[in-house]
Amino acid sequence: LENGVARTPPMGWNTWNTFGCNINETLIKQTADALVSNGMRDLGYQYVVVDDCWFDPNRDGAGNLQANPSRFPSGMRALGDYLHARGLKFGIYQVPGAKTCAQSTGGYPGATGSLGHEVQDANQFAAWGVDFLKYDYCNGSGTINDQVATFAKMRDALRATGRPIVLSINSNSFHCCTGPQRNWSDVANMWRTTEDIINRWDTGNTNGYPMGVKNIIDVTVPLAGYAGPGGFTDPDMMVVGRGGMTDTEMRTHFAMWAVMAAPLIAGNDVRSMDSATSTILKNSRLIAINQDSLGRQGAQVANDNGRRVLAKPLANGDVAVALYNPGSSTATMTTSAAAIGKSGSSFTLTDAWSGAVTTTSGTISASVPAHGTVVLRVGGGGTTTPTATTLVSSSSGRCL
Ligand code: DGJ
Repeated sequence: LENGVARTPPMGWNTWNTFGCNINETLIKQTADALVSNGMRDLGYQYVVVDDCWFDPNRDGAGNLQANPSRFPSGMRALGDYLHARGLKFGIYQVPGAKTCAQSTGGYPGATGSLGHEVQDANQFAAWGVDFLKYDYCNGSGTINDQVATFAKMRDALRATGRPIVLSINSNSFHCCTGPQRNWSDVANMWRTTEDIINRWDTGNTNGYPMGVKNIIDVTVPLAGYAGPGGFTDPDMMVVGRGGMTDTEMRTHFAMWAVMAAPLIAGNDVRSMDSATSTILKNSRLIAINQDSLGRQGAQVANDNGRRVLAKPLANGDVAVALYNPGSSTATMTTSAAAIGKSGSSFTLTDAWSGAVTTTSGTISASVPAHGTVVLRVGGGGTTTPTATTLVSSSSGRCL
């Protein structure tokens, strides 16, 4: 979406994965302070997104949304000011239908969705200093036509406010399979590719709640052709630091999100992280690959029984390569400079995890543990067009 924002994948933090509806302004402020003091803000984690359940169950007499008075007694404008004063950006949640997802399931009272209030809500958000709107399609027919129309209504309302606001949409809430086959870059800055993530490697779901990290990778890799500055595929917020997976799997999660040009939205409690979590989320080499100004999603150049090789061209001519091994044993994975779009006869390979630099005349090979991912930044030589097998996704293979 050409609205001046999200030129690279948005980075930040969101309340939902750890806190669900148990949110309040103290939590948000403490999280903001932690993002500053632990260095995450300076690495790019800017957007602090308050997900479902921040609002009062009733609109006011004029139909305006109101903050939940006991959880956010200072109000949303004050919360936005607090974030902005710390160099952070303010994200909020709303839905196009009558009820938010939590309201639809009975987990939260009221019916305060934007339906019929789109312009009023957009103006309210702009007045509060909101920089990011997560717009979650929980109600409605679920047809593509309805989704496009209803998301576009909010896109236009936000644009009319004159405030640059990232629009993050989820077409999948309770509507498995209706969204990802479409390139949503005309409507939104980021769009979810699946139902919700949980902190598991493999739930066995190919498209339905809940999705493990491996399952989301399987769905998102074929969508590589859609990403670019202003619009990114969103394989959901991260579960790094949430337990339920090995360190190797957590590292694969972060590495693949980085190479897939996914928004990097942490979902753990950043006020108390163990060192393994902190090391993963703060890997500056992977963040640089993710935040590269070309905005390309790594495209698959090989797939051997699910062991995938992805290549992500970077603005300086380097190419980031992910060697992803979802298999149950260690594998030696091999590709070549030519296969990932490099010409020439001498290259440097920088390992994104260790920082170790090696050289090669063309062969790119590494031992990759089970459920592991090796990421190498390939420099030197020239750049050609990668011989990707799935540079642009097809609309087949998923339900329409
Ligand atoms: C469904 C979304 O996919 C989640 O990320 C979260 O926003 C919940 N809705 C909130 O109800």
